[in-house]
Amino acid sequence: MPWQDNYKLLIGSIVPRPIAFVSTRSADGVNNLAAFSFFNGVCPKPFIVAFAPMRRGATGEKKDTLRNIEETGEFVVNVVSEALVAPMSRTNPEFGPEVDEFEVAGLTPVPSDLVSPPRVMESPIQMECKLVQVVEFGEEAGAGSLVLGHVIKMHIAPSVYRDGKIDPDALQAVGRMAGDEYARITDRFPFRRSTLNDFAPQGDKG
Ligand SMILES: Cc1cc2nc3c(=O)[nH]c(=O)nc-3n(C[C@H](O)[C@H](O)[C@H](O)COP(=O)(O)O)c2cc1C
Repeated sequence: MPWQDNYKLLIGSIVPRPIAFVSTRSADGVNNLAAFSFFNGVCPKPFIVAFAPMRRGATGEKKDTLRNIEETGEFVVNVVSEALVAPMSRTNPEFGPEVDEFEVAGLTPVPSDLVSPPRVMESPIQMECKLVQVVEFGEEAGAGSLVLGHVIKMHIAPSVYRDGKIDPDALQAVGRMAGDEYARITDRFPFRRSTLNDFAPQGDKG
């Protein structure tokens, strides 16, 4: 199938997707900001996250985010709360590498502690990352790369942090659906996970 058709199936089937709002800095010192919903956590020790920038649909070129990460080995993942959706969507056009999308979006860069790309002040959770590995899947339009990063410092707004956990109602993170649609995480339901104990013969239950 043409990659565009596969893409529609991919973004319609894997929903809702978390969004990494990734800040990077080029070797020349230009800040860059872009959203990636092919994003997830990998493991907590070491603390690894992953996201996947595709090649540009028209030319097959690498996106600025990937080029910057390959140049500097550093990036910041900023979590997208509902209030950030409007400024984030302004960073979607494929601006040239000379454009600082912090300015386009009207967002505030704050210096990171351990990496050169700035954090997004308005984001409630910011993860400073060092590049671990880029896995490339082709070089043409429709291809992409998997970027694995080691989170070396996390900044969490006190308003979303309770007893070592993130409060989802305070965070108001959004998920990406297909096209221009997003999902709120407000319709949640509890369901207890089974344990081995549930399958033990009655007499063995403690
Ligand atoms: C919510 C959202 C999610 C996105 N997810 C992805 C993604 O997972 N992969 C991708 O290549 N582009 C994704 N994009 C598009 C990129 O953000 C866009 O191509 C951007 O211009 C890349 O910027 P850069 O060249 O500065 O890296 C997404 C855009 C939005 C608004």
